[in-house]
Amino acid sequence: LSQTIALNDGHHIPRLGFGVWRLPDEDAPGVVGAAIRAGYRHIDTAQGYDNEEGVGRAVREAEVPRGELFITSKERTRDQGYDSTFRSLEGSLKRLGLDYLDLFLIHWPVPEHDRYAETWRALVELRAQGRVRSIGVSNFLPSHFDRLIGETGVVPAVNQVELHPRYQQRDIRDWHAAHSIVTESYSPLGGEGAALLREPVVTDIATRLSKTPAQVVIRWHLQQDLVVLPKTANPTRVTENLDVWSFTLSTEDIARIDALDRPDGKTLPRPEEMNTLF
Ligand code: A2P
Repeated sequence: LSQTIALNDGHHIPRLGFGVWRLPDEDAPGVVGAAIRAGYRHIDTAQGYDNEEGVGRAVREAEVPRGELFITSKERTRDQGYDSTFRSLEGSLKRLGLDYLDLFLIHWPVPEHDRYAETWRALVELRAQGRVRSIGVSNFLPSHFDRLIGETGVVPAVNQVELHPRYQQRDIRDWHAAHSIVTESYSPLGGEGAALLREPVVTDIATRLSKTPAQVVIRWHLQQDLVVLPKTANPTRVTENLDVWSFTLSTEDIARIDALDRPDGKTLPRPEEMNTLF
C-alpha cells in the first residue's frame, strides 16, 4: 500500500493524517509536534477547532520541510460567501503562519444559508492563485455536489465524512468513486468512548495479529482507499496509530469488519446540529 493517494487535481494526499478536533490550542504545539516527530506528515485542522495557531506553531517548529507536510483546514460556516472566503483563507494562513494550505474544505454545506456554491467559486479562484493547492468539501451529499459541479465544472478533490466500521457510508463512497473524489474518514475509530474498539470482531482480529483494535480499524480504512484521520491526545496512541503499515488484513477479516455496518451506526449528531458548532 502506497503512503499517498492521487487526487483528481494531480496532487497527492497522505493516506494517514492526524486529526485535531477537540485538541485545545494550548496543547496543540506539544501534541502535534510529537505527532510530526513520530512520523505523521498530514495534519487535519479546521477554523472551527480553534487550534490553528497551536497547530501552526508545531508545523513551523518541526524539523521537517514544509513541502513534506500536508496541512488541511476548513472554512468556518459563518464565513461562507464569495468575498468573505478570501478573507477567511487569509485568516487561516495568518494563524497557521503558512503561505499556502495543501487543502482547504467547505466544512458543511449549510443548504439553508445557500452560500456554498459562491463559496466554492472563491475556492476555485484561491486555488488558481496558489494560496491553496487542493480544494474540497466536508459533509456534502450528492445534491450539493451537483450544484458545485454544475456551476463551476470543478469537482472537489475530497469529501470528508463521518466513517467507521459501524457507519460505512457505502452509497456516498460509490458516488465519490464514480466522480474521482477521494473519501476522507473522520471519527474513524467510532468517536469518543470508542465502543467500536471493544467490539469482539475487532478485538479477536487484533489478538490474532498481535495488533491493537485501533490499528486493525485504521488498517481497514487504509485497505479500502480511504484517507483516515484518527485523533488522539495520548502520546502512546500517537505512535500506535501510525504503526499500521507492516501487516495486512485478509479478505475474510475485511469481510467480518464490513459486516459491522449498521443503519443507526452514526455516532455524531446530525449535520443540522453539528454545523452550528463550526
Ligand atoms: P484519546 O484522545 O483519549 O486517545 P476518533 O474520533 O478518531 O474516532 O477517535 C475516537 C477516540 O478514540 C478518541 O477520543 C481517542 O481518545 C481514542 N483513541 C485514539 N486512538 C486510540 C487508540 N489507539 N486506542 C484507544 N483509543 C484511541
